[in-house]
Amino acid sequence: MAVIAVTGKGGTGKTVISALLIDHFSTDRKVLAVDADPDSNLPEAVGIKDYSTLGEIRELFQQNRDSMGTISKEQWLEGKIYGEAVNESKHFDLIVMGKPEGEGCYCFVNNLLRSVLRKLMKNYDVVVVDCEAGLEQFSRKTVENADYILIVTDTSKKGLATAKRIIDSTEELKLNFKNIYLVGNKVNSNGEGNAIKQFAEKEGIIFLGNIPYSEKILELDFRGEPITKLLEDTELNNHFREIFKGIGGINDH
Ligand SMILES: Nc1ncnc2c1ncn2[C@@H]1O[C@H](COP(=O)(O)OP(=O)(O)O)[C@@H](O)[C@H]1O
Ligand SMILES: [Mg+2]
Repeated sequence: MAVIAVTGKGGTGKTVISALLIDHFSTDRKVLAVDADPDSNLPEAVGIKDYSTLGEIRELFQQNRDSMGTISKEQWLEGKIYGEAVNESKHFDLIVMGKPEGEGCYCFVNNLLRSVLRKLMKNYDVVVVDCEAGLEQFSRKTVENADYILIVTDTSKKGLATAKRIIDSTEELKLNFKNIYLVGNKVNSNGEGNAIKQFAEKEGIIFLGNIPYSEKILELDFRGEPITKLLEDTELNNHFREIFKGIGGINDH
């Protein structure tokens, strides 16, 4: 099992790229997609409309924890997660983390959740995590056990500054990722892409390629259609396959 976490500044295209990655790996691998952004939009991007979130199950647990009878609390949670939160699609499964917990003490349920998730993840070849913007998830250790991270940046100074902060914090927090990858997104053909490539070289991380600014992506988003529809365009499809080929670690798994 290999875990790849997709991260970067908000709005750079993490969800779009997560959706494309899920599609890429699920052609021949068992894939678990995890939406770890409280402002979930990965389900729509991969074409799943009805889903339950782990946040909802956590709240239900808190309400019922004293009336579960003979069944153990872990069994209850496991049953709920497997039965309701693992949203099965034709080619992959999806888990949506949902909103963070409210007031009160959630340590107990959170610890149980972590252990159920750890077990669950072992059933898959590849786990793709669409992270929330910023670095909180690194400090909160939500993605502590990712094997790889893929940083998405656009050509803005802010996008690259966030990428730099992520790289620095992986060192500070001693998160030993096997590889750190960089993808440039919404790149125009006026040399901006080169700056992204040079940034990766300077930082010693792996540059996978640039994705052009595409009206088609915006159009799908506007119509609420899954991003994976993009792949019906053979030229774009080949371009993405070429980019994702660079994720050596997972492709060779
Ligand atoms: N290559 C691209 N060309 C044009 N628009 C894009 C591209 N990639 C993403 N977008 C648009 O940018 C917005 C943010 O993308 P999204 O994947 O939701 O970012 P994030 O998950 O990082 O916040 C969306 O409206 C999306 O349609
Ligand atoms: Mg997103």
